[in-house]
Amino acid sequence: MKRFKSRYGHLSPDGKEYVITSPRTPRPWINVISNGDYGLTCSQTGSGYSWRTHAQLNRLTRWEQDLIKDEWGKYIYLRDEKGNSWSAGWKPVCAEPEYYRCRHGIGYTVIESSYHGIETALTIFVPPDEPLEIWRLTIQNRSRRPRRIEVFTYLEWCLGQSPDWHREFHKSFMETRYDPKAHAILATKRLWEVPGDRGHWNVDWPYTAFHSSSLRPSSYDTDKETFLGMYGSQNSPDAVREGKLKKRTGNWLDPVASLHTKISLRPNEKKTACFTLGAADSKTQALRYVLKYRRLPEVDRALQKVRLQWSRLLTTVTIDTPDDATNIMQNVWLKYQTISGRLWGRTAYYQTGGAFGFRDQLQDSQLWLVVDPEQTLQQIRLHARHQFRDGTVYHWWHPLSETGLRNQVSDNLLWLPFVVNSYILETGDFAKLDLPEPWVDDPSPASLYDHCTRAIDLSLQRFSPRGLPLIGGGDWNDGLSAVGLGMKGESVWLAHFLHRLLIDFVEISKNHNDRSRAATYETRGRQLKDAINNIAWDGEWYYGATKDSGEKLGSKENKEGSVWLNPQTWSIIADVAGSDRAQQVFDIVEKKLEVEIGPLLLQPAYKTPDKDIGYLTRYSPGMRENGGVYTHAAAWAVIAAAMLGRGESAFRIYSKLNPMNRGKEPARYFAEPYVTAGNIEGPASAFYGRGGWTWYTGSAAWLFKAGLEWILGIRPVFNGLQIDPCIPAAWKEYTVRRTFRGAAFDIHVENPDGVECGVKELTVDGTRHCMTKGPREKTIPVFPAGTAHNIRVVLGK
Ligand code: GLC
Repeated sequence: MKRFKSRYGHLSPDGKEYVITSPRTPRPWINVISNGDYGLTCSQTGSGYSWRTHAQLNRLTRWEQDLIKDEWGKYIYLRDEKGNSWSAGWKPVCAEPEYYRCRHGIGYTVIESSYHGIETALTIFVPPDEPLEIWRLTIQNRSRRPRRIEVFTYLEWCLGQSPDWHREFHKSFMETRYDPKAHAILATKRLWEVPGDRGHWNVDWPYTAFHSSSLRPSSYDTDKETFLGMYGSQNSPDAVREGKLKKRTGNWLDPVASLHTKISLRPNEKKTACFTLGAADSKTQALRYVLKYRRLPEVDRALQKVRLQWSRLLTTVTIDTPDDATNIMQNVWLKYQTISGRLWGRTAYYQTGGAFGFRDQLQDSQLWLVVDPEQTLQQIRLHARHQFRDGTVYHWWHPLSETGLRNQVSDNLLWLPFVVNSYILETGDFAKLDLPEPWVDDPSPASLYDHCTRAIDLSLQRFSPRGLPLIGGGDWNDGLSAVGLGMKGESVWLAHFLHRLLIDFVEISKNHNDRSRAATYETRGRQLKDAINNIAWDGEWYYGATKDSGEKLGSKENKEGSVWLNPQTWSIIADVAGSDRAQQVFDIVEKKLEVEIGPLLLQPAYKTPDKDIGYLTRYSPGMRENGGVYTHAAAWAVIAAAMLGRGESAFRIYSKLNPMNRGKEPARYFAEPYVTAGNIEGPASAFYGRGGWTWYTGSAAWLFKAGLEWILGIRPVFNGLQIDPCIPAAWKEYTVRRTFRGAAFDIHVENPDGVECGVKELTVDGTRHCMTKGPREKTIPVFPAGTAHNIRVVLGK
């Protein structure tokens, strides 16, 4: 396997670690490590923050979003007998290492370095079921003389939301103490920003934070002033220079945590120290964790559990194609990014989140379908509980405080039925439609089917007189925030999206014995398709929207933003464009939108802010939704290409978005090469090709789906597993292993004629055994759970 080496790093031989070889990457390259409740970010400099349940409302440690300095974190200082000091990461001392490697792995990060003849390896991870992180530090003396190394940990408590501009206020409610028996600092706070029954800002922060050491600390401190020194700096704190801590605790401090331990090492001797940081439900629980992880075998067991958990999650579907960049992203990193980053952590560097986006995590949860579909169902049920009785939903809501934003964005509610449909395709489990869930404003339960149809039915009411859906405060594109605030403007993408849902829900309604709804959806679907094709066709492509004033957007009549991507790709995905028009539309995507780094979300970028379009037009030209490659939407172009049988195009676009390929030019791309970037700047930007907004992007789950279901063409349908590859003609063969409804499939695809698509022959366990619907694909029927099958697919004309 290729290692994808650049001047900043490369993959490990098995691809499950990205090894960074210089601390000075063009931007922080991070890992987002989470167990679904507790989590942390860790950059290659050792900087980052920690949280429990919500990365914004419940942050344990202070952090600032500064991509240039990257200087907020939880640090370990080392100091030798001569007074030399350095950090086990690289920040904050930034001494010049003799050796440095940061290995971002699946569920852990290891930073290895060497300074003044002392080698350290700092492993940071979060055990699967406990609200804490562990820092396992091994120190080895590589010099020829005995050494005495002093270790100082350092972090600043946040304990809640505590925005930086309000630190003076918030620190007044915090209290720290030291427990000598436990080797631990404990911290609590008597105020939290979550609303309570006696008014706002009148509840305790309900956790006990702890920071402990396996070795007995010789001193400790919880005061920033005595640790750094007044007007001091993290780079060279007084405490580290002086070699001791001042043991201040209590209520009146700028609260931090620092533990000081001393380690003596004979030549070549290696020792391990472990530190914990966490937020327990009580002091007793905190002390239990602290005592548990004082024992190194427990630490190693916990790390082993992390590895086992991830190896289970990453092996339910695996692929082996001629392209290493595809294999590595599909097998490892897109899954990891989606689960650890988007679904569990819900935060990163470019966006510190914590909330659930109604549409965001629903879309992401599609990744669970091939890993553990029960998790998709749980996500669906959670979102159903955040729908109002009238069918509308929160745009996003905060767990813990259960507060959310309601707005006029028109597509949010429809992602619920969309993902329910995906869930049923995967599982065939129509019975789940009867599961009861309450509404957010009404405790009486309604079935999931009711939740879904309420969303669709409401959307069917919000139509313009000429038969297109209203855009309201934006469609999938958040930046179109003012196009239809007067509830007159229309969205063409939304029209396509709704059409797709109507087709899907005709099936689901029939199955649910709701014949009259099935009939309504059928009729409305037909009418909608006609309306779109009559009204929204701009001559050569579909325009994108109309403003409240009726003015067209995304149209040849516009000087800026005259072609939009989503209305083209979704006309294909949603089966709105007839076959000739679909080909024509995709030609436009390739000709007018696709550039060297992928398909742009629109072209040309807006240079002039337009208050009747929204904040999209206020972004710098070429950035994010304003004419950049917006990876989430660009992944839909892969699907559209594959639907048209354009294997070369589908794979070319997929490969352009693939961070392994983009990362070959780090000086241009800047971003991590192992996770997708939310956006890559377009030609209108002075930094054309620069990736940003990594980790926290809905693109990972979609790119995964585009790769597995549309390029490799292994996708669930109601009555089986459809095989419909759409690949580059040069691919001779590939393999996909996956389970489907409990049965295991080992699928081997051969392409002797060098075609892009078309299944000529399909055998199941050595005999021909399949169903055929269309001219291109074949479907393997459902087999009993627990059985295993060999599938051989031969492509050809
Ligand atoms: C962001 C939002 C997502 C939205 C997209 C396009 O990624 O989280 O909900 O659809 O931007 O604007």
